[in-house]
Amino acid sequence: MKEQLEQIRRDFLTLVKEVRDRTQLEELKNEFLGRKGRLKGAMKEMASLAEEERKLIGAFANEIKEAIEHVYGEEEKKIEREEEATRAEREWIDITEPGSFQKTGHLHPVSQTIAEITDIFARIGFTRVPVPEVDWDYYAFEALNMPKDHPARDDWETFFIDAPEGKKGKIVAIPHISNVQVRAMEELKTPFRALYIGRAYRRQSDTSHLPIHHQFEVLMVDKGVTLCDLKGVIEHFVHSYFGKDRTVRLRPHHFRFTEPSFEIDISCDVCKGSGENNGASCRLCKEGWLELAGAGMTHPNVLKAGGIDPNTYTALAFAFGIERTLMMREGINLDDIRLLYKNDLRFVNQF
Ligand code: DAH
Repeated sequence: MKEQLEQIRRDFLTLVKEVRDRTQLEELKNEFLGRKGRLKGAMKEMASLAEEERKLIGAFANEIKEAIEHVYGEEEKKIEREEEATRAEREWIDITEPGSFQKTGHLHPVSQTIAEITDIFARIGFTRVPVPEVDWDYYAFEALNMPKDHPARDDWETFFIDAPEGKKGKIVAIPHISNVQVRAMEELKTPFRALYIGRAYRRQSDTSHLPIHHQFEVLMVDKGVTLCDLKGVIEHFVHSYFGKDRTVRLRPHHFRFTEPSFEIDISCDVCKGSGENNGASCRLCKEGWLELAGAGMTHPNVLKAGGIDPNTYTALAFAFGIERTLMMREGINLDDIRLLYKNDLRFVNQF
């Protein structure tokens, strides 16, 4: 009997060495210590033993059972440690790895510029007014002191819309946003400071021209507005947007709707005003200056067209091309305006 119990222990010790995982271990435990296990079987046989012997064998059987349980316990811990190690290996995460972010996108650089311009003028009391995408010939030209067939109209290579002519003439895709001048005078209460931003359409495309470009224009009508105010407002914008170190040049010019008239040039950022880039003439400006805007004191005839008495009120107006304005900002270094609309994410994502 004793030998039989010893055999059970030996068998368990041999077999436990082959156990690979928790299931095998549980099976083995059942086989030896379970209700129908080998130890229970051996103990049943004890019933036939004499009282004295049964006690001794019973105590020995208990010893064997405890020994087996002890080894089982050790083995169980070992398996647990192994399982833990595999899990740790499998579920390991690098907590220093950067997280994954939701892509949020951003506004196109031209839209960013529009927001910035709006803000710069809001600071000195200019309010945005709407711009129609197409307009009557009257607002685009005639009310701006350019009667029908006037040669000055040729400067704006205009797209005409194929639509019936109305009382105010043909409909054009606006070639500049100065069409809003007389509209603003008609609609707003004088005095006023208006800012309007929109698209202008012209038949042109090269490194510094687009068939559709954006413009912003300011129009300030009040008693006693002078050329000093014009210079002041231009400088407020140029210094706020480009920084105080960029140079502005007012070059006398002619526009039908302003008197006197100027073109506003700003020193080129691509060639730093030298007109040269890598030994060749600057691809963007050619002579160190970039023409950014037209400006002037509003012509009395335009005020009259807007129902404003030119003897009481004077006005200043100027308009910038937005893409050129953006291109001329320090550090942007863009030598082809058309890049802005190529829809190449590698380009726009730099802004
Ligand atoms: N409308 C002109 C253009 O697009 C620019 C311009 C010139 C606007 C003089 C003005 C101005 O307001 O006063 O070519």
